Amino acid sequence: MSLLKVENVSKVYKSDRFLWGQQRITEAVKNVDLIIEEGTCLGLVGESGCGKSTLGKVILGLLKPNEGEVIFQGKNFCKSNGRRQYGLRRDLQVVFQDYSSSVNPKHNVEKIISEPIRNYLKLSPLEEKKKVLELLEIVGLNQNDIKKYPHQFSGGQLQRICIAKAIALKPKLIVLDEAISSLDVSVQAQILNLLLSLKEQFHLSYLFISHDIEAVSYIADRVAIMYLGRIVEEAENIKNLEELKHPYSKKLLASVLNPYPEEGKFLDSSFDEVSISKQISCGCNYIERCEKAMEICHQQVPTFNSVAEGHKIACHCEGI
Ligand SMILES: Nc1ncnc2c1ncn2[C@@H]1O[C@H](COP(=O)(O)OP(=O)(O)OP(=O)(O)O)[C@@H](O)[C@H]1O
Ligand SMILES: [Mg+2]
Repeated sequence: MSLLKVENVSKVYKSDRFLWGQQRITEAVKNVDLIIEEGTCLGLVGESGCGKSTLGKVILGLLKPNEGEVIFQGKNFCKSNGRRQYGLRRDLQVVFQDYSSSVNPKHNVEKIISEPIRNYLKLSPLEEKKKVLELLEIVGLNQNDIKKYPHQFSGGQLQRICIAKAIALKPKLIVLDEAISSLDVSVQAQILNLLLSLKEQFHLSYLFISHDIEAVSYIADRVAIMYLGRIVEEAENIKNLEELKHPYSKKLLASVLNPYPEEGKFLDSSFDEVSISKQISCGCNYIERCEKAMEICHQQVPTFNSVAEGHKIACHCEGI
């Protein structure tokens, strides 16, 4: 049984305001299917505004999908009542990009990390403190930090505190929404390595949401590429990113900064901002940017085709 199954999930935002009598509707997530197996990391990549966080919030139960189901540990998370959701939430945690607003500036580290422990476990104050000290050590912080406040930490250290809070109850799945994006490159590497070692140590599963395809390929066992609300490619064990096949994935790769300018690779900056409101109602979402678009791409939404074991793409031009 898969740990998490996202089945045909769609999420639409409707604005309260009307412009020229028309309501603004944003189809942030469209008919998404995803699976996360226990002990694995699924990387979700795509440019800003493509719907990654919306999908993450639907999985976390923070948003209700307009269509589709989220099955977590065999139970329909969206349809669970308060009591059952409370139980499931213990196994489903989150780390956000914005570590400083994820913690209460008036609380010290002990109070921040012990919050989920107090909500779920009935421990004595001494046992609770022992657990927090243990967690600080696990995430690479000093036990003397326990009485400090958020403003006394660097960004990387604060993110470690958020990770300690997320693993406090030994959850099954952690949604990491741009968890390293606000950190500098060397700290990003440290946090990625910490996440990898925690995954092994506690048999955790991750949904690692990022716009950084290189970071995703480093940490993830499977990569899903998202474009304007839809998943367009999914691949397993991608260590060589050149193996990605969808025209959008290739474009994403071409826009990654190359640390070896002598190789003569230039950054592809031809990406113009495409608003999600420009989504195509029929046909392929990527059509406006695709250099290989054919007649059929205007008429039919591409379905997934397998191109290799564990590797599928949704593209009519596959094989061209
Ligand atoms: N609460 C909201 N109300 C209306 N529209 C929203 C809301 N939240 C997000 N959107 C819209 O939904 C689309 C997807 O947003 P989302 O935040 O999921 O993208 P994202 O891929 O996480 O972007 P980023 O990489 O910048 O975090 C965007 O067009 C955004 O403007
Ligand atoms: Mg986001």
